[in-house]
Amino acid sequence: MRDVVYLFIICGKRQEESKMASVCKDVLCRSAVPEDVEPLYQMISGYAERGIMLPRSREVLTRQLELFIVAEVDGEVVGCGSLCKLGADLVEIRSLGISEGHKGMGIGSKLVEGLIIEARRQRIPKIMALTYEVSFFIKNGFDVVSKEIFPEKVWTDCIHCSKQNNCDEIAVLKVLN
Ligand SMILES: CC(C)(COP(=O)(O)OP(=O)(O)OC[C@H]1O[C@@H](n2cnc3c(N)ncnc32)[C@H](O)[C@@H]1OP(=O)(O)O)[C@@H](O)C(=O)NCCC(=O)NCCS
Repeated sequence: MRDVVYLFIICGKRQEESKMASVCKDVLCRSAVPEDVEPLYQMISGYAERGIMLPRSREVLTRQLELFIVAEVDGEVVGCGSLCKLGADLVEIRSLGISEGHKGMGIGSKLVEGLIIEARRQRIPKIMALTYEVSFFIKNGFDVVSKEIFPEKVWTDCIHCSKQNNCDEIAVLKVLN
């Protein structure tokens, strides 16, 4: 992935001295670097233990680091996502996750936006995901589609998945123009 860097501000509410205060923070979205392997490993392993993501070893993350972008707040990695090429005209969003304390602040959408920009840069017209978070992807302009239209997918990541023959994730697709 070519160097990705963009900055945006999130605002959340926090109880402070018995009144609600608005808390705004800078979020940095950037391409992953070797120092991110451990936080990426921890975040993805946490979701993998709950069956929400496929696990990634530190070795795989190190090898595939250029596929990842991360979101950083106060120097801490709070979100990640990667883009995997499945064919000449199709990429998949993988390992998209936000840490528990930072959900619902728009960070996931910004990461998806960054991955879409990267797909466009590579001139790949279709971006898909297999997910349980259908509403989130619909809010980000994806449509629900049949999994059967993605034959390439079956031959890559799914062969390593324990749910291979009874996959209950939903396929979502966005066609870029
Ligand atoms: C799904 C996930 C990445 C969303 O990230 P996020 O930063 O919390 O999402 P955002 O704040 O950008 O939300 C964008 C919109 O989607 C909505 N949304 C987010 N998660 C949602 C959910 N689980 N169900 C319904 N709507 C959701 C938000 O309310 C928001 O709507 P709004 O624009 O009307 O306010 C995050 O919840 C997560 O890490 N989930 C666990 C891992 C996972 O399932 N990843 C997907 C693998 S493909």
